[in-house]
Amino acid sequence: MQLLDGKKTAQSILNTLKIDVAQRATAGKKVPHLAAILVGTDGASQTYVASKVRTCREIGFRSTLIEFENDISEVRLLEKIEELNENMDVDGILVQLPLPAHIEEKKVIETIIPTKDVDGFHPENIGRMIMGEADAFIPATPYGIMLLLEYNKVATAGKHAVIIGRSHIVGRPMSILLSNNSNPGNCTVTLCHSKTKNISEICLSADIIVAALGSPGFVTEDMVKEGAVVIDVGITRIEDKTRKSGYRLAGDVDFKNVAPKCSYITPVPGGVGPMTIAALMKNTFKACVERN
Ligand code: GUN
Repeated sequence: MQLLDGKKTAQSILNTLKIDVAQRATAGKKVPHLAAILVGTDGASQTYVASKVRTCREIGFRSTLIEFENDISEVRLLEKIEELNENMDVDGILVQLPLPAHIEEKKVIETIIPTKDVDGFHPENIGRMIMGEADAFIPATPYGIMLLLEYNKVATAGKHAVIIGRSHIVGRPMSILLSNNSNPGNCTVTLCHSKTKNISEICLSADIIVAALGSPGFVTEDMVKEGAVVIDVGITRIEDKTRKSGYRLAGDVDFKNVAPKCSYITPVPGGVGPMTIAALMKNTFKACVERN
């Protein structure tokens, strides 16, 4: 069993980006500038956004964090996005999801100008991704998983990939990327969801499993074939009073019992999480280069 170390792989990607940014700065070129919008006080969202902003600082990007109260009106949020769209200094815009129920996520995503949509959630970027176009921004988590497979030279061509979860952010784009004619890619993909029958049997036939449903310990050892590659996207917070933070992170995979059967497996934390941030930084760099 080999651990797919997302922390280490992400650090290697970030080190390269840091050098690329320094070179741009030395050449008098614009350095990437990410604007992140956080609405409300959800603890997990606060942690994710803080981590994105900190990573920007560590690799020489500029960043602006814009925080709104939970009761901000949709109109005001959309106005802020339009202002950032027009601000020539800003290269990438991200609005941390989920948003409060009174704000329509679809409207927010579609207001971000596609050339600054570093989360890759705008329908134009999703369309470009489906067409396999190189200028698409790819959603950060699936992109991070593709980078993790690539950097660790995990063979995917001709393999049966089973993805559990069909969210717009992870499962669905993942199914497209793994089925693309690319490396990594060229998988035969099965996309499972809450209405799927015989999910255990389908998983047992998988060479690669991507678990992205947000249900701690869902993938158990009896669902995993000997030698499978298992990617765990789950990061549910579970109350744990023995920790200083008051919680621990739980993946969608029963790691302890599944790991011995795997050829490769990602840990939680330290697997997909850091790769998501590295992928976002790559998208922000690309936005900056293409806009300037
Ligand atoms: N919420 C969960 N994942 C993501 C992500 O990749 N981007 C944003 N903006 N919000 C998220």
